[in-house]
Amino acid sequence: MPTSRPPPSAGSPLVLPALEALAGPVLVLDAQQRVSAATPEAHERLGATAVRTGTPLPEALALTEGTRGLEALLHHGRQVEATVRAGGQVHVMQVRALALEQGARRLGWVVLLGAETEAEGPGDSAEETFHGMWTRDAGMKRLFRIVEKVARTESSVLVRGESGTGKELVANALHAISERRKGPFRAINCAALPPSLLESELFGHVRGAFTGAVRDSPGHFRLADGGTLFLDEVGEIPLELQGKLLRVLETHTVIPVGGRSPVPVNVRIVAATHRPLRREVEAGRFRADLMYRLRVVPLFLPSLRERRGDVLPLARRFLDELQQSGTRHVERFSPGARRLLESHGWPGNVRELRNVMEYAYVIGEGPVLHEADLPPEFSEPRPPENPAVPVPAPRSPPPPSPSLPSENLDPAELKAALARAGGNRTEAARMLGISRVTLWRRLKAAGNTPKR
Ligand SMILES: Nc1ncnc2c1ncn2[C@@H]1O[C@H](COP(=O)(O)OP(=O)(O)OP(=O)(O)O)[C@@H](O)[C@H]1O
Ligand SMILES: [Mg+2]
Repeated sequence: MPTSRPPPSAGSPLVLPALEALAGPVLVLDAQQRVSAATPEAHERLGATAVRTGTPLPEALALTEGTRGLEALLHHGRQVEATVRAGGQVHVMQVRALALEQGARRLGWVVLLGAETEAEGPGDSAEETFHGMWTRDAGMKRLFRIVEKVARTESSVLVRGESGTGKELVANALHAISERRKGPFRAINCAALPPSLLESELFGHVRGAFTGAVRDSPGHFRLADGGTLFLDEVGEIPLELQGKLLRVLETHTVIPVGGRSPVPVNVRIVAATHRPLRREVEAGRFRADLMYRLRVVPLFLPSLRERRGDVLPLARRFLDELQQSGTRHVERFSPGARRLLESHGWPGNVRELRNVMEYAYVIGEGPVLHEADLPPEFSEPRPPENPAVPVPAPRSPPPPSPSLPSENLDPAELKAALARAGGNRTEAARMLGISRVTLWRRLKAAGNTPKR
């Protein structure tokens, strides 16, 4: 933080000591959202360039939610988060705006800069929330900056990361910041459907194309027209469909199943995969040309193991969320619980952490969250874990072993796998070497239909 105040005779911008006495660091904007005046304290905090008369607000302050944040701030009166880089330091603060109106005429706004939540140098552990993703990790923050940049383009993005690392949240963020945000966002999980169904879900079908096709169906590409289509688990698309998908991406037209004429579509593709597509290409399971078409911009989400500093603060945040609707108030973790949480392998990543916190919140009592409140797998002896090696994810389910036929898995085993995977069915099925559908069926038969 600079310590010397700007000279009162700064001239440009117009400084407003009286306003400062009332409200601290304040910017006054004109009707075009440009800085027209600033209090000395705002000048001090943001630096001279930011408060120069005529600077558009987004140049003076980087709003965490980009243009959406700007709209929320100025048109919906919401408090939003802003980051300012001044004098080699990062300042994070909450900002609010009050509209200045004369009758129906908008004269401008008064923007109040709140107290700083963090003020630390670059590469430090200041926290950041980006479209529902919280972190202190420098790698995650770099990723957010890339997302902001890429969102302004039309390039295809491939998001890679283990289960529960936030791939879908990144896809949502890309859409929300992009020019397409007013258009639809559609997501389709390519692993969840058999090939025949996947084709018609993606490209649509015409009436009579197959038994049961009683009417035309547009398919996800057309439903996402003008917006973004999120192809989740894109590595699972069968080879025969990959060629068709490539054709759609190259020609910007779809031919519905059973149809003849191509229909133009204007869709931005964000795809996600938990396994390296390059390896799938090497194994002959994925077309190289499609991989290059999809991963124009590859984004890598680090696992929770690779950003352990996020574990306890995230756990605390999830607890705070639970406390808003629950009656238990947890003040702290016991040293044992902290140790277990910090050393856990987190195969289900942030989703698993959230589920573990929900479990511990419900199971335990009183103001301290003890190790005994954590799910059973935390107290079971664990094989030595190599933190650098992610959970193995076999491409196709291994053949059922004679001692453990997949159809005969007992419910306790299913539930244990589900707990280990942090409630994530895809991950649990992967661990058991059965399909997600089989897992679902088995759980249902056992009278347990967990939410994801
Ligand atoms: N950085 C984060 N901060 C807060 N919550 C997060 C974060 N990352 C993920 N989550 C939580 O984890 C959940 C899972 O995220 P998401 O669905 O985006 O993961 P994913 O990578 O798509 O997982 P999968 O591969 O299993 O589909 C989210 O609903 C959210 O609650
Ligand atoms: Mg997902």
